Amino acid sequence: MLGASGVGADPLALLQALAARRSVDAHALRPPAPPPEVLQRAAELTLGAPDHQGLRPVRFVHVGSEERAALGELFARAAAATGRDASGVINARERAFTGPGLLAVVVRIRDDVPDVPPYEQWLSAGAALMILLQALHLQGYGAKVLGGRAARSEVVRRAFCTEGEQLACWIITGTRDPAAEEPKPPDMRRELLTDWSPAPS
Ligand SMILES: Cc1cc2nc3c(=O)[nH]c(=O)nc-3n(C[C@H](O)[C@H](O)[C@H](O)COP(=O)(O)O)c2cc1C
Repeated sequence: MLGASGVGADPLALLQALAARRSVDAHALRPPAPPPEVLQRAAELTLGAPDHQGLRPVRFVHVGSEERAALGELFARAAAATGRDASGVINARERAFTGPGLLAVVVRIRDDVPDVPPYEQWLSAGAALMILLQALHLQGYGAKVLGGRAARSEVVRRAFCTEGEQLACWIITGTRDPAAEEPKPPDMRRELLTDWSPAPS
């Protein structure tokens, strides 16, 4: 029997699975990368993110293994354009090969929608990003969000984005090496949920 959420008999088991997600560093990610159907399912789930006026501020661009060398050249060009030395350029090229799977997170933050300020759109994009990470996790794949210089480079932005879009970050993904060190549980000391009381008048 499914409840209104569609979760079924054991919602706590699902919550436990969601709570177990941790970012997986590049060195702990192994092939295989998530196949297209897993990525597609995860991307479709992100449409459930709260999205004021349905602006769809985020989309995901998959970089296939065949395209990594071209991405490496792009990263190298971007590094050279910002004046990095030869070893910096080599490092930048190598970063394109990080993780068995790679997605670019592209956002469009509009400033012409009076009722939806940019911070709401960023929140929506972040919510979509988190859904994607959880959807990969629940399908058995590890992932980590990475920023870095390449994401901020205009050379790279132009290769992934249309006018008005920006490359917010990358997601590396793959299969978590079972021998890798267990990620630390989150720090629960902060008060995450409190009850509001109005100030005495
Ligand atoms: C937009 C964004 C960019 C990030 N960039 C990096 C990065 O470049 N390098 C890094 O080590 N962590 C980066 N992080 C943090 C990791 O993705 C991750 O959240 C952090 O390691 C904590 O792990 P947890 O998700 O398991 O709590 C970034 C996070 C976000 C949201």
